[in-house]
Amino acid sequence: MDLFTAIKERRSCRSYLPDAVDDETIDRILEAAVWAPSPANNQPWEFVVITGAEAKEKIFSEAEFRKKELFEKSGWKWMDKYRVDFLKQTPLIIAVIGDPQKTGADMFAEEGRGLAYQHACAAAIQNMLLAAHALGLAGLWFTLFDKTAMRQILGVDSEKDPIALICLGKPGAEPLQTPRKDPKGRTTYMR
Ligand SMILES: Cc1cc2nc3c(=O)[nH]c(=O)nc-3n(C[C@H](O)[C@H](O)[C@H](O)COP(=O)(O)O)c2cc1C
Repeated sequence: MDLFTAIKERRSCRSYLPDAVDDETIDRILEAAVWAPSPANNQPWEFVVITGAEAKEKIFSEAEFRKKELFEKSGWKWMDKYRVDFLKQTPLIIAVIGDPQKTGADMFAEEGRGLAYQHACAAAIQNMLLAAHALGLAGLWFTLFDKTAMRQILGVDSEKDPIALICLGKPGAEPLQTPRKDPKGRTTYMR
């Protein structure tokens, strides 16, 4: 698949078929992840591959709890209709864990100090989503969880940062089409 086609066609998916994702496909998605750029090539990521029902159930319960909490804090009406059942339905979740120690030169910065490891993990996540799309799968970048709770569920130590859960599988429904604004309205040129 052409790269620009993959970039434009990839959409977040919130409904999955139960078909398992084979190990070779999982390996290819992880390989795409680690080819992302990172500060001084320090590769500040680790992955947890989740296929078991028990772990997915715990992730679902955590998300349900945070959803209610966020609804109370924000009052966002759309959250009433937002369901997170796909967390139990999806055949595969890959947790992306960042290492805040591996943040490179920005540890000395005045502004945005210590965030570069998160930026690198975000680049890895986008590679994963694009690779999954090119392999005929759909995905979702999911962050509705408390980090301490997620460390406990995943058995990750307190020094590490659970950045996101990436749901992956065959889509069970047409994804929502999300338009984009023309970049020209947000671009200045210094020629
Ligand atoms: C940092 C980040 C966090 C996100 N967290 C969630 C989430 O917790 N739940 C969810 O359903 N979608 C989440 N998304 C997906 C966005 O809602 C989605 O990318 C956006 O609506 C644009 O739609 P598209 O991905 O289909 O183009 C997240 C995306 C990003 C980049």
